[in-house]
Amino acid sequence: MSENKIPLAGVIGTPIAHSKSPQLHGHWLKRHGLKGFYIPMDVTGDDLADVLKILPKMGFVGVNITVPHKESALKLADLVTDRATLIGAANTLIFRKDGKIHADNTDGYGFIQNLRQNAPDWNPAAGPAAIFGAGGAARAVVTALLDAGVPEILISNRTRVRAEALQADFGKKLRVVDWVKAGNILEEATTVVNTTSLGMLGKPPLRVPLDGLRKGALVTDLVYAPLKTRLLIEAEKMGCVTVDGLGMLLHQAVPAFERWFGVRPDVDSATRAAALR
Ligand code: ATR
Repeated sequence: MSENKIPLAGVIGTPIAHSKSPQLHGHWLKRHGLKGFYIPMDVTGDDLADVLKILPKMGFVGVNITVPHKESALKLADLVTDRATLIGAANTLIFRKDGKIHADNTDGYGFIQNLRQNAPDWNPAAGPAAIFGAGGAARAVVTALLDAGVPEILISNRTRVRAEALQADFGKKLRVVDWVKAGNILEEATTVVNTTSLGMLGKPPLRVPLDGLRKGALVTDLVYAPLKTRLLIEAEKMGCVTVDGLGMLLHQAVPAFERWFGVRPDVDSATRAAALR
């Protein structure tokens, strides 16, 4: 064990330069007057296991894990929370004093907290949810929505088999709709989520027909660059309640920061501004 008294944490992924997590954790460390550092680490797949062995010896208390290592990190952990097992991926690792690696996944938690904070009147039980996409992020969203009491989820993904795999894992409450008819999942939905990367800077927009959107539905996008995607702009025009994806990134970081540095940080406008710097 290192004699280092300053706790170190960080984020592991590749590429990693675009990550907003270093600004975010750096902002919280400063705001709470805590000693500590949060360091981005560009690690390729072959090195992940070795890096996870070395970091605790260097004084690291844990790391966030991002693309493409979330599934591998889960397999390398000694202990795994139920929600990480359900999602099949880890975004947070805690290096315990006994040498064991504890894996968690706070993406679903961050997703729900973002909605609770920015759309306090949202009622998940009011009607079915519609989800575009069936990748890793969709798994976290499905887990969180079912946990929050959504009665049914309609899901549409370009590659249908991925949506069917989700249905196989999460059961009868999920209904798969073909991508060519993706607009149909909006008709009854009171909660609408884009989990695809469509709409992100440098990617085409989500071109699903939106005329089925229900007035008053809650519409959220996991994409946060740009903050206002076409989906959110159109939904707002149609009288929906919209929430951008930045808050999910901020809220998913809260439990990790608390475990590593001992203080539960707030998510407010200063936190948003820090992450956008
Ligand atoms: P993440 O972990 O962020 O969800 P992912 O597992 O690569 O990343 O999933 C990305 C999602 O965006 C998937 O639903 C993907 O659809 P496919 O499963 O068909 O790949 C969706 N996506 C990405 N580019 C897309 C495009 N051009 N058209 C439609 N869907 C797209």
